[in-house]
Amino acid sequence: MTSFPKQIQITEVGPRDGLQNQAKPISTQKKIELIDALSQTGLKTIEASAFVHPKWVPQLSDADDVFEGIQRVDGVKYTALVPNERGWTRALAAGVDEVAVLTAATETFCQRNTNTSIEGSIQRLLPIVEHATACGIDVRGYISCVIECPYEGPTNLSVVRKIVQRMLDMGISTIALGETIGVAVPSDIRRLYHALDGVLSPSDSVLHLHDTHGNALACATEAMHCGVAQFDSSCGGLGGCPYAPGAAGNLATEDLVSFAHEQGIETGIDFEKLVSASRVIEKELDCNLRSTAYRTFQDAQTRPSE
Ligand code: HMG
Ligand code: MG
Repeated sequence: MTSFPKQIQITEVGPRDGLQNQAKPISTQKKIELIDALSQTGLKTIEASAFVHPKWVPQLSDADDVFEGIQRVDGVKYTALVPNERGWTRALAAGVDEVAVLTAATETFCQRNTNTSIEGSIQRLLPIVEHATACGIDVRGYISCVIECPYEGPTNLSVVRKIVQRMLDMGISTIALGETIGVAVPSDIRRLYHALDGVLSPSDSVLHLHDTHGNALACATEAMHCGVAQFDSSCGGLGGCPYAPGAAGNLATEDLVSFAHEQGIETGIDFEKLVSASRVIEKELDCNLRSTAYRTFQDAQTRPSE
């Protein structure tokens, strides 16, 4: 077991993964307000939206307007999910700093999520990687269902290994491993990195955890012991995937940041500013965000003094 890293990098995926599954419509202006507030927290990368088919994910059909409206802050990278060449053209016009392409480790999820097979999704992302690289735009490659699939059950890790290898071979330097349905326990994370030994080192990977069973922070902790230092998380713990029924939100950014700071791990993020950003969306959704660290902080603010 290695010790904790000195610092971790967090990509905030709330505006994309967090908002793609909300039943309540959220105005473009509110999304912009959320991203602008997140831009003031010290976060260095924000996945701001997705240039996906508007009928497949109507919640993010305003991605172009969101990118048009945000106040970009120097030093912050604004990224977006892009599933195909049409999405790439839109993303390029919107001025994204990085695109995230996607595939999955199981056929059924890939089909339900992107209307094609694993091979079909890889063929789709080849020209995107080529164009993006030519334009000097970074590419991240998501692989969903690295632990378990909502349709097929536990994932064959040798498939994850093969897809990682193919993505690296095609020049994708950042691989994000998606625990899409939030059921992993720490030993699953150790098994995953063991299965990737010699292909992808933990320190080069990004871990994207959902938190359905409440073990995402424990999984992140185990991942840090394996050498992982890059994580995705969403403000307040917003999230879920419309094509992963029952999956809850991502690991909450507040929970990850609070834990990291208590352990002396640097994140570069101002916790109180992060809470303020989450408050924007909590008010709009008229719900209680599920992040424990967020709730604890909020409750302490509103508790009457003795
Ligand atoms: P399709 O229907 O097979 O697309 O969808 P198509 O190529 O057949 O095109 C049909 C029509 O849609 C055409 O228009 C296209 O131009 C248009 P027509 O010629 O008929 O007038 N079209 C588009 N319009 C705007 N933007 C586009 C676009 N693409 C086609 N990008 C597609 C295939 C991949 C587009 C669709 O399946 C899709 O958008 N899927 C995305 C689903 C999604 O966003 N899921 C959630 C995100 S993934 C996730 O949450 C997991 C992750 O967080 C990691 C983890 O947790 O594991 C990343
Ligand atoms: Mg996700």
